[in-house]
Amino acid sequence: MPDQTPSDMPAQKPAGAMPQSIVPHGPVGRLIGWVRELLNWQANNWALLHLPPEARVLEIGFGTGRLATMCLKRGGVIYYAGVDPSHIMVQSVRRRLAALKLDTRFELKESDDRGLDWPDASFDAILAVHSFHFWCDPEATLHKVGRLLAPGGRLILVQRMHGRKPPAWLPNSFCREKDQRAGARRALIRAGFSITQDRRINPRSYGIVAEYHRYDLN
Ligand SMILES: C[S@@+](CC[C@H](N)C(=O)[O-])C[C@H]1O[C@@H](n2cnc3c(N)ncnc32)[C@H](O)[C@@H]1O
Repeated sequence: MPDQTPSDMPAQKPAGAMPQSIVPHGPVGRLIGWVRELLNWQANNWALLHLPPEARVLEIGFGTGRLATMCLKRGGVIYYAGVDPSHIMVQSVRRRLAALKLDTRFELKESDDRGLDWPDASFDAILAVHSFHFWCDPEATLHKVGRLLAPGGRLILVQRMHGRKPPAWLPNSFCREKDQRAGARRALIRAGFSITQDRRINPRSYGIVAEYHRYDLN
């Protein structure tokens, strides 16, 4: 994990000490996860449609693992890795994916967006559906995401829209802006991405596909 502490980054707390709305825990957290899965089906389907045909995939904030399940079942996903700081989500998704009994290799880490410790160019697609607003260190994470993408790879980000008054407690300052779409676009462009597609999926979700351009393997 990076050792810098930007002002954006809240002090790291154990998952159980974080608000349910950010890191679900316990039986209530389980319920929150399933409700979100129902609400996010369209956003997850949109993300799946934008996966390249053959891909090593990383998902940031996989929640109950609906998209992970769809990735593994779809075929063409060679390897699936995911991070989520919620202990209950990691445990239940591990069971959910194992129950599929598929050959595709998967790896789940209990971590927030600061724990993306894979080697450069490990992935062809990086997915984040309704987790960007929770990222602790969006600028550093976007740079890391750029490094993790192989040449020609893409970031598929579905941003949760919060209307004109986003909650002040959201950790990611780009998502606390009145125009959250502009905030996300600015964050991506500043980090060296170019946006190849973007569209409103529904009133809660805004989908972006972006490629990283300042690529340097040295
Ligand atoms: C709104 S849910 C979305 C889950 C899933 N992607 C979906 O569409 O149903 C957000 C998820 O992000 C996770 N999360 C919270 N803070 C995070 C962070 N800093 N980095 C990555 N994931 C985070 C939560 O534990 C939760 O599972």
